Formats: sequence, C-alpha cells, structure tokens
Amino acid sequence: MGRMSPSLRIANISGGLLKCNQGSVTAAVSRAGSWWSHVEMGPPDAILGVTEAYKKDSNPKKINLGVGAYRDDDGKPFVLPSVRKAEAKMISKKQDKEYAPISGTPEFSKLSISLALGDDSEHVKNGLNATTQTISGTGALRVGAAFLNSFFKGPKDVYLPTPTWGNHIPVMKHSGLGVKMYRYYDPTTCGFDFQGALQDLAKIPEGSVVLLHACAHNPTGVDPKPEQWAEISKVVKDRKLFPFFDMAYQGFASGDVDKDAAAVRLFLRDGHEIALCQSYAKNMGLYGERAGAFSLITGSKNEAATTLSQIKILIRPMYSNPPINGARIVTEILSDPELKKEWLRDVKGMADRIISVRTKLKENLKKEGRKAYKGIQHLPHQGWSYFNGRCDVKECGIFSPCYAPSHQVSGGIVK
Ligand SMILES: Cc1ncc(COP(=O)(O)O)c(C=O)c1O
Repeated sequence: MGRMSPSLRIANISGGLLKCNQGSVTAAVSRAGSWWSHVEMGPPDAILGVTEAYKKDSNPKKINLGVGAYRDDDGKPFVLPSVRKAEAKMISKKQDKEYAPISGTPEFSKLSISLALGDDSEHVKNGLNATTQTISGTGALRVGAAFLNSFFKGPKDVYLPTPTWGNHIPVMKHSGLGVKMYRYYDPTTCGFDFQGALQDLAKIPEGSVVLLHACAHNPTGVDPKPEQWAEISKVVKDRKLFPFFDMAYQGFASGDVDKDAAAVRLFLRDGHEIALCQSYAKNMGLYGERAGAFSLITGSKNEAATTLSQIKILIRPMYSNPPINGARIVTEILSDPELKKEWLRDVKGMADRIISVRTKLKENLKKEGRKAYKGIQHLPHQGWSYFNGRCDVKECGIFSPCYAPSHQVSGGIVK
C-alpha cells in the first residue's frame, strides 16, 4: 500500500463501496513503470513441468514418466469403480455445499487415522490423535511442517532421505524449516543403503526431526525390510529423533493397506510419538480432489486437543478450510463396509498390475533395452535397475530411478 497511497485518490463512495480514480492509478503505474517488471521467469516445476512438456511434444512414441499417477492398460487415467459408486451415492443424497470445519469433518479424520493405524488402534481408541483433513498429502506436509516450525522445541531442521520426493525440500523450506539429508539409496546395489542410513541417523543431533517415507519410497521404489525398520526405529529412539512419516502410497506398495502401514504401526508399538501425512491421491485415485490428512500422535488426550487447536489456527489464514468433495468420497468409501471391501479390491488390483507391468518391463528391457538405450553402457552402476541385470525386482510402488546420460536429458526430458 505504501507505494500506492500517495497517488490513489478516492473518487467517490457509492453504496458503501470506495471507488478508486482509475486515471490516477494508471498514471501512477506508468510513472513508476509496471509493478512487476523486476520479476524474472522462474524455472518450470521439475515434476509437473515434464507433464507440460509432454503435452506439447508431438512425438507419437513419447511416454510421460514424470508425474506419479496410475494409468490403465491404454495409458489413460483410471477412476476406481468404488469411487464411482461413492459418487453415485453422494449425488442421490443431494448434499449441501456449505463450508467444512477448519480441520474437516470429525468423521473423515477418524476414518483416516483408523485406516493408517488400524481399526483396533489403542491410540485412536484412547483419543491420542490430533487429526485434521488437509489439501492432499502436500497439504498435510505443509501443515505438519508449519506446526513443527511453530511448536517443535528441538533443532528446526528436517532430515530427509537422499534422494526424496522433489517437493519435500521446498515444502519444508517454505514452512521455515532447514533441510538436511541422510543416506538412503545405494545406486551400486539399486537397493536401500541400510548401513549408510543407520550411520547417518545415528549422527543426527538429538531431538531433531527425521522424515520417513512409510512405503513405496518416491523416487526409488526401494523400502526397508521389516527387520530394517525395527533397527531404524531403535536408532530414532536412541537419538531421541521425532519421526515425521509421509504415507502417500498406503496400499500401493503391496496391495494391502495394513501391510503398507506396518512401519508406522511398528513405530507406535515402539513407543514413538509421530507425525503422519496421508494422501488419498494414489490409493483412491483422487489426485485432483486433494483429500489427505495430517495427524499428530500425542502423549495424552489433552495434548491431542491442544495441538489440534493450534493446527486449526495455522490452517485458518492459509486456506480457511479444506475442500469437501474428495473428503466426502473418502468418507462414503471408508464408512460403508461393503464399499470399503470393494475399494480394497480396487487398490489390490492397481498394485498387482503395477507389479506385473514392472516384471514385464524388466524382461523386455533385458531383451531389447541394450539396443534401444545405448547410453546405458556409460553408466555401469546406474540406469533402470532392472536393465543392468544385477538387481532383482526389489522395488515397489510406481517409482524406479532412471538415470540417463546428461547429454540426453534436457529439462527432465530424455531424448
Ligand atoms: C512421497 C510423496 N509425498 C507426498 C506426495 C503428495 O501428493 P498429493 O499432494 O498429490 O497427495 C507425493 C506425490 O507424489 C509423494 O510422492
């Protein structure tokens, strides 16, 4: 306002509205030049920018490997049959379009945390969760990071695995947190760098935050085994670290939502208090509906209430309250035992298909790939892990690291 006020003149007041003298504003802008002439072109988003480039590319053989979205056999987006049924039920109910509460509906929150921790969770039964609906998984991370920035007493650095989902770093930084890394993926084995991760975690300053991908790690597709998770949990406990779980793919790794939540549940059994981000983008195919949840597991019911009250205060100026449609779809599915069973079958169907496509890709790349993708010879330890033949299919979910020689890559596009 400071730059504008001297030249803005109030021309008239009509119906209680102040109207500006447009001539004065135009003159002010032209005197000072445009307001935005100093703004430089920013780079396209590393992930979503690939989709934009893909749409523009006329090559009939193009494949979009950028964004993590499930496709059917024809390469088309897939709407789950259980989701279609939920939508039909919603239409017949002729629901209103009123605002949701700041943290979404209590029913959505209860169903979401029960999906993550299990229907028999003692934490849920005892009211030890502060759960809020968020704008999908990204919103959950953003709200969680904002909460940590405001209330976490330890160092304000989050330790992320190397590599991690591209958006983790900007989300944490945008929330005011520092970002540090710990070892995770070993390109020489195409597997989890268990020793490297343990060594790095053991050196993190006590009382820091560590972000863990609950399952189907993005972008490597490599997860710790159950016994490795047990060791990680021990080190996290010894170092008094705060576990911040990102579970964007529950059900997508194995096809079983309980199995995919095993790490989160193990940490709770080991006595950790955790933060948890959930997303329904992948496992319900609700990408654009933006339905997700953020939870804190607290030491007491009272803490659940106090932390939730502060989470709401953080959300209110950010986006006021969450969108209702996706949350209603989730609520329809998870609250109806028959529909939930159908959804669990849909999730298993997607996960099984991903596993079979991965296996076929491995076989075909072994047969054909060396001819088709000559650059791989220069990368003895890299490339698609199936391709170099030294790695079995250990990866899960929809991701697989694909290293290409730099001269073949431009703006995320491999030629
Ligand atoms: C690891 C991880 N976390 C969070 C998200 C957030 O997804 P969304 O905001 O679409 O739910 C993604 C999406 O790709 C992801 O891969």
